[in-house]
Amino acid sequence: MNRVLVTGGAGFIGSNFIRYFLKHQQDISLLVNFDFLTYAGNLENLTDCESDPRYRFVRGDVRDYGQVKQLFSEYGFDTVVHFAAESHVDRSITDPELFLTTNVLGTRALLDAAKEQWNIDPKNKYSQTYKPGVRFLQISTDEVYGALGPTGKFTELSPLLPNSPYSASKASADLLVRAFGQTFGLPVNITRCSNNYGPYQFPEKLIPLMVHNALLDKPLPVYGDGMQVRDWLHVEDHCAAITAVLERGLVGEVYNIGGSSEKTNLELIRLILRELEKSEDLITYVQDRPGHDRRYAIDHTKITETLSWSPVYTVEEGIHETVQWYLHHPDWIERVVTGEYQVYYARMYETL
Ligand code: NAD
Ligand code: TYD
Repeated sequence: MNRVLVTGGAGFIGSNFIRYFLKHQQDISLLVNFDFLTYAGNLENLTDCESDPRYRFVRGDVRDYGQVKQLFSEYGFDTVVHFAAESHVDRSITDPELFLTTNVLGTRALLDAAKEQWNIDPKNKYSQTYKPGVRFLQISTDEVYGALGPTGKFTELSPLLPNSPYSASKASADLLVRAFGQTFGLPVNITRCSNNYGPYQFPEKLIPLMVHNALLDKPLPVYGDGMQVRDWLHVEDHCAAITAVLERGLVGEVYNIGGSSEKTNLELIRLILRELEKSEDLITYVQDRPGHDRRYAIDHTKITETLSWSPVYTVEEGIHETVQWYLHHPDWIERVVTGEYQVYYARMYETL
């Protein structure tokens, strides 16, 4: 692991990962953040990394195979950490096509470029020999497994049963990654994590949206009965897990990453309101999301037993720290919620 391509590094998890990785991996000589800077990409998330001589930003689109191929030949990566995606379920309900092109075709372009660049005999279609130490890591989601009932957890062997256009696009990308491993022998891994939270998350997702609205004493839109369950994972725990997979993961393996922190949406919102000393009267029930998955929960035994990774944060500690971060970064939120966010919010929550 020496020359690393991070796609989608200007987004929430990608930017946290770049900061974490530059800090903890002194041995790498280059880290290129390749990001199209959609509404979700924000270079302000990485201002403290810009002075690191190992860090480079390149604006570009993972769907553009020509550009991706050029990037590989220019920088000679040995590691790809692929975060770039359309990531919000609600947006996938209004625009499924965008999710298919970015999440599926974008992953195809990266896989093909890696295969060509890393194969020691790229003209030979039967060649399965790659440069030593190369690795393609697909960052996926527990949502590919679909929804759980009140009990049980997703393991790596759970069937893929995605319910939203977002999760269907991520499952499709995962299957392509698997196929490149099986057919071409490309050294791949897939990680599937639960809902992340922490600093720099765009306020379309549950936690920053609720924090932002509560600070303004605006209604908190709870979909349906608010009893849906998510397994909350602090983004720093996620970054440590990704690093463990890059360092010690077995080629071809899938690893589930979870926070061991199941909460209903209502429990989580009440926790946030207590942190902010705001009234529960702000909670406002709104029409449910179509196809809303009832419960996710991750069994992370495999990564814990084989790679010695476990989450460190409890959700109570993590929410406290995260709420404090948002309280101390009002300028970041203000800049993020101008422009496109206002249009999105009005369309999504227009009855509030
Ligand atoms: P995000 O929406 O905050 O960031 C996505 C980033 O990808 C943005 O910087 C955006 O500009 C970039 N991007 C989008 N389209 C692109 C394109 N065509 N070319 C290049 N860059 C492009 O997402 P996130 O929450 O940081 O999620 C990162 C990854 O983790 C995604 O693959 C997502 O599916 C996965 N994931 C996220 C969560 C979560 O809770 N946030 C949970 C499980 C898995
Ligand atoms: P979200 O952050 O969109 O993540 P995901 O859908 O990928 O799990 O939503 C987390 C949970 O919060 C999910 O059950 C939907 C719910 N939710 C609301 O109740 N209201 C909201 O305004 C949002 C954005 C989410």
